[in-house]
Amino acid sequence: MIATQSIPSAFAADHDRLDELFVNFRTCKRTDYARAKEFFKEFKFGLQRHIVWEESILFPRFEHKTGMVKHGPTEVMRLEHRIIADRLEEVHQFVQRQDPNSDHEERLLLESLSEHNQKEEHVLYPALDRLLSDEEKADVFTEMEQTPESAYKVCCGRHE
Ligand SMILES: [Fe+2]
Ligand SMILES: [Fe+2]
Repeated sequence: MIATQSIPSAFAADHDRLDELFVNFRTCKRTDYARAKEFFKEFKFGLQRHIVWEESILFPRFEHKTGMVKHGPTEVMRLEHRIIADRLEEVHQFVQRQDPNSDHEERLLLESLSEHNQKEEHVLYPALDRLLSDEEKADVFTEMEQTPESAYKVCCGRHE
């Protein structure tokens, strides 16, 4: 992501990129599991990175600007992230044993993810776009670029 992008478009684009990786995983998991697994890994690390970006860079800024820490939208988003992470882990368990029969778990993950993403795209990202100055927005992108892989590249509790 580059600094000239806006927060709403950059984060919505990352949602779309992750959606596409997950579609690719689902499309080829019954014909080429090795390839499907690569898509899943990229999806998993990408989603974990996205959540780290939001929780450590975006949400604190929203909370600071609005004074809404408890009972605000970011609290709801953090709770939803935990549900998404649990469902991601459920699919991951299937991937670890190369079992393609995770359709039910995939649907659950997709359900929670798409509702969550819609809320962010319609409420949280536009609010940040209004609340932050250009300089503050540039800082957001700088911090995103500086996020170390160790912050999100965790697989089964191990760093890969
Ligand atoms: Fe999120
Ligand atoms: Fe998001």
